[in-house]
Amino acid sequence: MKSYYITTPIYYVNDKPHIGHAYTTILADTLARFQRLVEQESFFLTGLDEHGLKVQQAAEKNGMSAKDHCDKMAPAFLELWDKLNIQYSDFIRTTEDRHVKIVQNVLNEVHENGDIYQDEYEGWYSVAEERFITDKELDSGLFREAKKIKERNYFFKMSKYQDALIEKIEKNENFIQPTTRKNEVLGFLKQDLSDLCISRPKSRLEWGIEIPFDKDYVTYVWFDALINYISAPKYSEDDNHFKQFWPADVHLIGKDILTTHSVYWSTMLMSLNIPLPKTIFAHGWWLTDEKKMSKSLGNVVSPLTLVDKFGVDAVRYYLMSEMVLGSDATFSMESFIKRYNSDLANDLGNLVSRVSTLINRNFDSTIPLSKDSNNDLSNEISNINIKDKLDNFQMDRLIQNIMDFVRSINGYMEKNQPWKLVKEDKKLAGNVLYNAAESLRIATVMLSPIMPEKCKEILNALGATSSSLDWGNLKSGEKIPESNPIFPRIIE
Ligand code: MSP
Repeated sequence: MKSYYITTPIYYVNDKPHIGHAYTTILADTLARFQRLVEQESFFLTGLDEHGLKVQQAAEKNGMSAKDHCDKMAPAFLELWDKLNIQYSDFIRTTEDRHVKIVQNVLNEVHENGDIYQDEYEGWYSVAEERFITDKELDSGLFREAKKIKERNYFFKMSKYQDALIEKIEKNENFIQPTTRKNEVLGFLKQDLSDLCISRPKSRLEWGIEIPFDKDYVTYVWFDALINYISAPKYSEDDNHFKQFWPADVHLIGKDILTTHSVYWSTMLMSLNIPLPKTIFAHGWWLTDEKKMSKSLGNVVSPLTLVDKFGVDAVRYYLMSEMVLGSDATFSMESFIKRYNSDLANDLGNLVSRVSTLINRNFDSTIPLSKDSNNDLSNEISNINIKDKLDNFQMDRLIQNIMDFVRSINGYMEKNQPWKLVKEDKKLAGNVLYNAAESLRIATVMLSPIMPEKCKEILNALGATSSSLDWGNLKSGEKIPESNPIFPRIIE
C-alpha cells in the first residue's frame, strides 16, 4: 500500500533555523500526525541543503571547510526538531552518499534522454538567489550581490516542457495550491521559458556534486536539492521501494520557492518520465513588523527561546492556529499570549481541571456511569470533518472547529451545572460529567497532532486509554489522578 508522503523544503545550512523554518516543519509534522490519526500510513521527509555558493561562503567566513561547516550546523537543526517534537520518518542531507549517487544517476538519465547540452552563457548572477537573473530582474534592484559572469555550462532543456507543464497545471486543480499561487505560476509561464543552467565550473565553485559526465563541473545547487524528494525513497536504486512513496502527496513550501518547485522540479520529473507530485502547497510568510522574518533583516524570532519559555505545545498551537494557510501572518508576543490565555488556559485548561476536580470530589476519583450515547455533545462531534479540512489545507479552520466544540462542552457544563445537580440527582450529574469528559477526550485526541505532549497529559488526567474518535471509549469505573493545571495562565 502507498504511504501518504509529505515533504518540507530542505533548509540551507548557512544559518541557524528560525521560526519560519520551524513553521513549515511543524506544519508537515502536524499533517503527518493527522494522517496517522485517520489511519493512513505516512512518510514525512525533511533535511538539509548543504551545497552551493551560499554555504561555501558561510564556511569561508567561519574559516572552515564546507563539509566541516555543514557537520557543525546540522546538529542545530536536529536539536530543534527534537525540541519541537518533530517525528520525521527520514532526514536527508545532500552531502550523503545515498543522495549524491542518485543525483548523478538522474543527471546521466537526463543527459542520455538528450535533455542536457553545453553552451556558453553570459549573464547576471545573484549569489543571494543562487541563480542567473534576467536584465529585468537586475533593474528591479531586488537582487543583492549580482555579478556579471561569462562561462561555458551545461543546460537542461526546460523550455521543451513548457506547453506540457501549462497543460498539467491547468488541468489539475490540486497540483499547485492555493489558487493564487497556481495563477502566479501560470502568469510566469506566459513568457517563453528559457533553459536551465545546471552546472557550475569547479574553477568558480567547488562545493557541489560532480557532474558525472564532466569532472570539471559541479551540479547547480537547486538541481541537486530538488532531487532529495526522490533520492530519499531510492529512485533508480530500488523500484519497489520508490513506488510505495512516489508520487509525493504534498511538497510543503514557502511562497519564496514556488518557481523552483513548480517549474524546475516539474520539468525535471517530466524529463525523467515519472509522475508529478500530487500537490505543491505554498504557504505565506511569517512577518515581524510587516516584514519577512529573515536573518538578513535581523528580525528573527528564535523558536528555542519561545519553547524554553512557554513549552513546545504552546508554540506549535500558536503557529498552527494563527496562520491561515496561504496568507502571510504576523508574529507578535501580544498575539501569542492572547491566544494562549484565551484558547489554552481558559477554554481548554480550565475545562480539564473543572471536569477532573468534580469527578475527584464527587465520584471518588472514578469516571461515572454513562446513560445516553445520544446527546447534544455526541451529536455535535460529527460537525468536525477532519479529512475535509486536511484535504483543503485549512488547518486554522480545523483548529477553530475543534475549539468551538471545546467551548460547547463548557456551555454544556454551564447549562447542566453538575456541581449543583450532584446534590439533587447524583446519577444524572454523573451522566453530565461522563458526557463532558468523553467529549473532552475526543476533542483532545483531535488536538493531539498539534500538541502531542499536552494532549497526553489531558488524556491521563481523564483516565483515558483509548485514542479512538468514536463516542463511548472512556471507560466508566476508571480511576483518575489528582489534577494539575495543564496550561497555567501567562501573566503579562
Ligand atoms: N534550500 C532551499 C530549499 C530547497 S528545497 C528542495 C531553501 N532553504 S531555506 O533555508 O531558505 O528555507 C526556505 C523555507 O523556509 C521556505 O520555503 C519556508 O518554507 C521556510 N521559511 C523561511 N523563512 C520563512 C518565513 N519568514 N516565514 C515562513 N516560512 C519561511 O530555500
